This record gives sequence, structure tokens and C-alpha cells, in this order.
Amino acid sequence: MSNLIKRIGILTGGGDCPGLNAVIRAVAKSAIMQHGLQVFGIEDGFLGLVQNRISELTTDDVSGILTRGGTILGTSNKCDPSQYVVGTGDDGQPIFRDVTDRCLEHIAYHKLDAIICIGGDGTMSGAKNFVEHGVNCIGVPKTIDNDLVGTDITFGFMTAVYIATDALDRIHTTAASHHRAMVVEVMGRNAGWIALHAGVASGSDVILIPEIPYDLGRICEFIQERSAHGKRFSIICISEGARPKDGGQVVAKVDPTSPDPIRLGGIGEQLADDITQRTGIETRTTVLGHVQRGGTPLPADRILATRFGCHAVELIVRGERNRLVVMRNHEVTDTEIGEAADKQRTVPPDDPLIRAAESVGTFFGI
Ligand code: F6P
Repeated sequence: MSNLIKRIGILTGGGDCPGLNAVIRAVAKSAIMQHGLQVFGIEDGFLGLVQNRISELTTDDVSGILTRGGTILGTSNKCDPSQYVVGTGDDGQPIFRDVTDRCLEHIAYHKLDAIICIGGDGTMSGAKNFVEHGVNCIGVPKTIDNDLVGTDITFGFMTAVYIATDALDRIHTTAASHHRAMVVEVMGRNAGWIALHAGVASGSDVILIPEIPYDLGRICEFIQERSAHGKRFSIICISEGARPKDGGQVVAKVDPTSPDPIRLGGIGEQLADDITQRTGIETRTTVLGHVQRGGTPLPADRILATRFGCHAVELIVRGERNRLVVMRNHEVTDTEIGEAADKQRTVPPDDPLIRAAESVGTFFGI
């Protein structure tokens, strides 16, 4: 089977994250040097497939990119070829068309035997569409949110947690000086993994995640009790997807041209206002935003990305089809690619890290 495979494509889809270049490098180097394959970079995720922006990658192209953030191929979190935006209607709403056929022509033109799709749930659902049209797609799980079903961890997550932890540590010292409550809003969409891990690592006093809707009154009591016991500041790490038990998530913007149109953001500011109003305690908010996705990956993410990229190539060479590379119980292995499409892996309420945090006095808002 392996001798039938000669040319493979590679794309990065969805929001970027640290470690994408490390996967691209691992794929290109192992495919070219180890297996004598040709590797073709597809620009800007599925958009490059639609627009036929595909060109060969050499080992020189991927040399020196291991430590670089972002992706040398570019990415897009707005392109789903099965629902491609071709214009705007009189009502101002986008007009969609299925342009999968156009992509299939471009795949055939470049004689790609398989495509490695590096991305999150949206990218895997895009890949599933091509799988249904007979294209061999191998998925590599990426997202700072760590919310991909099927894998214990995605690369990029550990770096995002590190960045958020560093920010929370810095917030700690200024909070202590000014005797304030400080709210730090982190990313994660509907999953609280970044908030949970960075919150625990930084010793945040309160951690609020989407999976546990919070009780504002109890948070205010908790902060006031801390004050009464001489702790004149409080650090609250809140996930952008968190919400009060009697309210909804805060949506920063809706992008109708994106397959996942909701952009969350603003719950931190809302919570800070609520705390100040109820307690009179001066409260400030910091929104970390895209800084969590930028810059050089941690060594752990470079290693994970390298292992994932090499495994993806091995799968193709072995003649496997439509697999998703995953990490399970510390082993790099693989599963069916459709398993990760259009689903999100959220924090279970009985996650051992929640229990450990509660044991050291961290409050989860209920
Ligand atoms: O999925 C990664 C992520 O950074 C989420 O944590 C966040 O909600 C979203 O992407 C932001 O998307 P955008 O880059 O479109 O603002």
C-alpha cells in the first residue's frame, strides 16, 4: 500500500496556536527524508484548497520553524468548503454554496494521495466532508482550548496555560499592593480547561468555568470573607465561556461568515462590575485574549507536535485512511477522524483537578 502514496498535502485550519509550525516541520521532514514522499503546503486552511493555493514544501522551507509561533501556511477559521461564502444577499446575509467539487479538482490536479489536516473540531468536520468524497484525510489535533474529543491533550494548550499562568502571577502582585479584586478572563470557548489549569497553577482564589455556572452572591461572600480574614485581595480566573447560574454567556461578536459564528468575551468585565456594585470592593479586569495563542511554543508542545506530525506520516505510509492522531494515556495513537468532528470535550464536574483545587481552598463559584 505504502508504495502507492507519493504526494501528500498539509493544511492548518481554525484559530492558530503555538506548535503548528512544529507539526508542519515534523510532517515535511519525516515524509521527505524518511519516506521519500513529496509534501504540498495548502495555504490558509481549506481556503487554499478552494482557491488552489497549493505549492510544494522542501526541507529548506521548514528549516528553523520549530520554535516559531503561528503557522507558515497561514490559516482561516471562516472557510467550510461545503458552505462557502460566495457573496452577500439583499438582506445583508452571506450567500453560501457548496464548493467541495472545486476542492476535489484541485486535489486531483496536484495528485494528492492524502491530506494532513491540522485543526480543531471545525477542521475535523471539514475533513469529514472530504473523507465522504473519498479523500484520505489524517487529522492532527490542535487548539489552545484542549476541547477536542478523542484525545487527552491537544498541542498548544500547555503553552496557553503557561502564558495565562504568567499573567495571573503578575496580576497577583499588583492586586496585593492595591487591595483589589482582580478578574482575569482567559480563552477556551465552551470548555474551562485553560481557566482550570492556569487558575490552579497560579493559586487563583476563584476559578469560574463554563461547566459550573456561578452564584454571584456566593462569590461576593467568599471575597468578603477573605477580606475579613486579612486577605485584602482576591484573584478570580474566569473562562470567557463562564456564566452566572441565572444568566447567559456574554457574546463579544457574531460572525455569520464563520462556521462557528459566536465569539465569546466580556464576562470578566460584567463580573467585575457586579462584584464592585455588591461589595464596594474595587475590582479590575484583564482580558488576556489572543496573547494566549501567540509566540513560541513551550518545549512540551514542540515535543507533542513533533510526535503527532511523525505519527500522521507513519499512518499514511502504512496505508491507513481517515484517522485522527491522538494522545491517550501518554501514548500517541489514533482513532477514527469523525470522532472529533463538531463536538467539544468539556471539563467533567468531577475532574480530579477540581477536587484537588477545592481541597486547597479554591472556590468554583457555587
Ligand atoms: O479556539 C481557539 C480560540 O482562541 C478560542 O479560545 C476563542 O474563543 C476563539 O478561538 C477566538 O477566535 P478568533 O480568533 O476568531 O477571535
